Amino acid sequence: MGSAFIILGTSIIAVLLAGYFAQKYLPPPKPKIFGIDLGTTYSCIGMYQAISGNVSILEVQNGHKCIPSVVAFSDGGILVGYEAVAQSEHNPKNTLYDAKRFIGKVFTKQEIQTLQKRYPFKLEADEYGMMYYVVAVNNTVYKITPEMVGGNIIKLLRDTATRNISSPVTKVVMSVPAEFDSRQRNYTEKAASIAGLDVIRAINEPTAAAMAYGLHKHPSLQTILVVDLGGGTLDVSLLMVQGGMFLTQGMAGNNQLGGQDFNQRLLQYLLNQIHKKYNKQLTDKEDKQVLRNQVEEVKLNLTSSDRAFIKIKLHSFDNQIYEERISRTLFEEINKDLFFKVLEPIKTVLEFAELDKNEVDEIVLVGGSTRVPKVRQIIKDFFGKKPNTAVDPELAVVTGVSIQAGIIGGMWPLTVSAVELPTNVKKIQIN
Ligand SMILES: *[C@@H]1O[C@H](CO)[C@@H](O)[C@H](O)[C@H]1NC(C)=O
Ligand SMILES: *[C@@H]1O[C@H](CO)[C@@H](O)[C@H](O)[C@H]1NC(C)=O
Ligand SMILES: *[C@@H]1O[C@H](CO)[C@@H](O)[C@H](O)[C@H]1NC(C)=O
Ligand SMILES: *[C@@H]1O[C@H](CO)[C@@H](O)[C@H](O)[C@H]1NC(C)=O
Ligand SMILES: *[C@@H]1O[C@H](CO)[C@@H](O)[C@H](O)[C@H]1NC(C)=O
Repeated sequence: MGSAFIILGTSIIAVLLAGYFAQKYLPPPKPKIFGIDLGTTYSCIGMYQAISGNVSILEVQNGHKCIPSVVAFSDGGILVGYEAVAQSEHNPKNTLYDAKRFIGKVFTKQEIQTLQKRYPFKLEADEYGMMYYVVAVNNTVYKITPEMVGGNIIKLLRDTATRNISSPVTKVVMSVPAEFDSRQRNYTEKAASIAGLDVIRAINEPTAAAMAYGLHKHPSLQTILVVDLGGGTLDVSLLMVQGGMFLTQGMAGNNQLGGQDFNQRLLQYLLNQIHKKYNKQLTDKEDKQVLRNQVEEVKLNLTSSDRAFIKIKLHSFDNQIYEERISRTLFEEINKDLFFKVLEPIKTVLEFAELDKNEVDEIVLVGGSTRVPKVRQIIKDFFGKKPNTAVDPELAVVTGVSIQAGIIGGMWPLTVSAVELPTNVKKIQIN
C-alpha cells in the first residue's frame, strides 16, 4: 500500500514537472481570443502575450494602432478607418461615423430631426425608432444600420488579427460603455457577429481601464475613480473592487465636453487674430480646414512642449503667410473654464456614492484628452494625489479588455479574472 502511494505521488510530481518545463521551454501558445475596443471615435484590437503577461496592441493601418471609427460607402467599395477619413471631404454624405452613439437605441422622430442638423449624412428611423443611415452609391439607395458600420470596423480589426497569428480569429472579448443597457449590448454583439465573431464576454470600459493597471489583482477593497475624457464626451465612473469583483457605485458624464471643444476655442482665437491682423474675416473653407488641422497639431505639441508655432499660407488672402506663436499658458487660459468643468461629474459621483474624495484609492485616466497637462493637474490638485497615467490613455481600455480575453482564454500565467456584479446605478448627465 505504502509503495503504491509513493508511486502515485511520484507520478503527480512528474506531471507537475512536465507542466513546469513545458511552461518554461515550449513556445508560448498562440493567443486565440482577442480584445476589441469599439470606440466612438477610434477602435483598436489587442492580444495578451502568454508567459510575459504583456499585451500587444496590433497595428491596423499604416502603422496606426487605433483606427478612426469611420466607414465610407463609395463607388469604389467600402472604406474603413483612415481610408474612409481620407475621402470624407469629397463624399461627406456617405461617410458614416458616431455609430456608437446610435447603436441599439430607440429615437423619437423629433430626436432624429435634432440629430440630423449635426451631421452631413442622412438619418432615418424604422417603425420601432431604430436609427439607420441612408447612403446613395452606384445609383442605389441603401439603409445602413449602426451595427453594420460597427461590423465593418470590426472586420478590419479581425483581419489584422488573423494575419498576425496566421489562423482564423473567431472569438473576442469586447468593451462597452458602463451605461449601455441590454439592448445596446446586444446590438454591439450583433456588430461583431456581422464580422463573423462571437463575443464571449462584454466588459464595461471603466473596468477594462482599471484592469490595464492591474487593479483587479488587489486583494483588499479599493475605490477606483475612472475619468474618460475623449474627443466629445466626458464619462466618470466610481468602482469598488475586491479580488477581481467590480461593482459600479456611480456614473456621471457630460456629453458635450472633450478635445473638440478645446480645439474650437483655439480656432476661434486664431480666427480673431487673423481678423485683427488682415482686417478681414477668414471664411474660405479650405483655409479654415488647414487652420483646423494646425490647431490639432498645436494641441498635441503643447502636451510635451510649452510652445508651438503655426505657419500657414492663406490662399484666400493672396497666399500671404500667417504665423503665430502659441504658448501652453495661452492655450490653458482660453480653455480654463472648460478644463475645470471636468471636476463637475467627479463631484457628482462622489456625492451620489456618499464618499469623500480622500476615500478614493486610485484614479485612472482614459481618453486622449486626459493627456492635456492642465487637465491632469486639475484632477491631481482636487484629490491631492497623482492619477494613474503609465498606460497610454487611448490604449487603456483595449489593454484591459485584452487582459480579460487572455484570462478567459486560459493563457499563462493564471491571473484573477474580473467579474462585474450587477448594479442598477444610472448615469447622471451634467451638461
Ligand atoms: C513586457 O513588458 C515589459 C515592460 O514594458 C518589457 O520590459 C518586457 O520586455 C516585455 N516582455 C516581452 C516578452 O515582450
Ligand atoms: C459600386 O460598384 C462598383 C463596381 O461594380 C463596386 O466595385 C463597388 O463595390 C460598389 N460600391 C458599393 C459601396 O457597393
Ligand atoms: C503581430 O503583432 C505584434 C504586436 O504588434 C508584432 O510585434 C508582430 O510583428 C505582428 N506579427 C505579424 C506577423 O504581423
Ligand atoms: C438580444 O438578441 C437576441 C437575438 O439576437 C434576442 O433573442 C434577445 O431577446 C435580445 N435581447 C435584448 C435584451 O434585446
Ligand atoms: C509640432 O512639433 C513637431 C515636432 O517637433 C514640429 O515639426 C511641428 O512643426 C510642430 N507643429 C506645431 C503646429 O507647433
